[in-house]
Amino acid sequence: MPRVEIDKLREGMVVSRDIRNTKNQLLLVRDSVLTNQMITQLACYGIDSVFVVEGEMPQAAKENLMKFKEVDEAYIKKLLKTPKFQRFKKNYFESVDAIEVNFNDIVSRGASLDREKLLEGANKLFEENSSTAYTLLGMLNALKLTDDSTYCHSVNVAIIARMIGSWMNFEEKQLNDLTLGALLHDIGKCSVPDEILKKRGKLLPREYEIIKMHTTYGYGILRGQDLDPDVMDVALHHHERNDGSGYPHGLEGLNIGEYSAITAIADVYDAMTSPRIYRAAMCPFDVIATYEREGLQKYDARYITKFLRKIADSYINCEVMMNNGDVVRVINSNEKRLTRPMVQYADGTIIKLEEHPELYIQAIT
Ligand SMILES: [Fe+2]
Ligand SMILES: [Fe+2]
Repeated sequence: MPRVEIDKLREGMVVSRDIRNTKNQLLLVRDSVLTNQMITQLACYGIDSVFVVEGEMPQAAKENLMKFKEVDEAYIKKLLKTPKFQRFKKNYFESVDAIEVNFNDIVSRGASLDREKLLEGANKLFEENSSTAYTLLGMLNALKLTDDSTYCHSVNVAIIARMIGSWMNFEEKQLNDLTLGALLHDIGKCSVPDEILKKRGKLLPREYEIIKMHTTYGYGILRGQDLDPDVMDVALHHHERNDGSGYPHGLEGLNIGEYSAITAIADVYDAMTSPRIYRAAMCPFDVIATYEREGLQKYDARYITKFLRKIADSYINCEVMMNNGDVVRVINSNEKRLTRPMVQYADGTIIKLEEHPELYIQAIT
């Protein structure tokens, strides 16, 4: 039974013993399948290593996982049936098609970019569904199960970036530039060979270096277009990180353009919400914990704070399932620790998750 250091723990590992802190308070029961929420919480309570199961997953852990998968699938099924989703889906794929055609024309024969057409599709998707982050993000997630191409990714990132911009009260012109920058952020991937881009499994260092080139390639492609410099900047700098750990230039803080900084957050969101075997694709509290675990200092504080808080707030009043199988309603968010809101049972009992480190929200019902 290997003992794994806290920073080497990964989602999907199974805990082989109950975990308690120095005050003997229970933090996690055995057979729990680790999520980023759990790992951040354990770190927060000063746990430095954990015993995990080696080899095949125990039956209890498998059953645990199944329960959340079923809840998640039922939620998505319910969503897929709504007329709102049907409309969204139609508009979404129209928008994805427009991008695909325009990207290929630009890259293969130097055609000019159809700004109006590109923006029209993305904006329509946003406007009809901007009421809550909860619906919009939920629908984007549901669509992931059907298609996961670079074009879909571009539309997703554009919608999320626009959402952040609108929360920051950007003006219309800024919102459009941000949306356009985000739509085009990965255009350079058209110049990366498919066998590297679509390779399954681990990339070799040399291949990773080639993938990273999509930023400079993208900028090169867009330079020939009639675009605002801030819009082109997104293709070049959306992988820069606030703490200087990004690429291609290792820029820090305010040296990163604001459209690039926002697109970086949206880009990471879209990547981290791809379905995984060991967790519900939907669980927003895992999304929040994943950013926290990766390090919030990597992102522009103004935007990441707003983004995560809005995500947490949009789940107030929603029914959720916790890791012990109990179904409760989120009744209040907790600004200091977003993944630990206040929840209420059907019989009226209220609990503060902050005072119950052994409980985690694992799926939206
Ligand atoms: Fe990228
Ligand atoms: Fe991207």
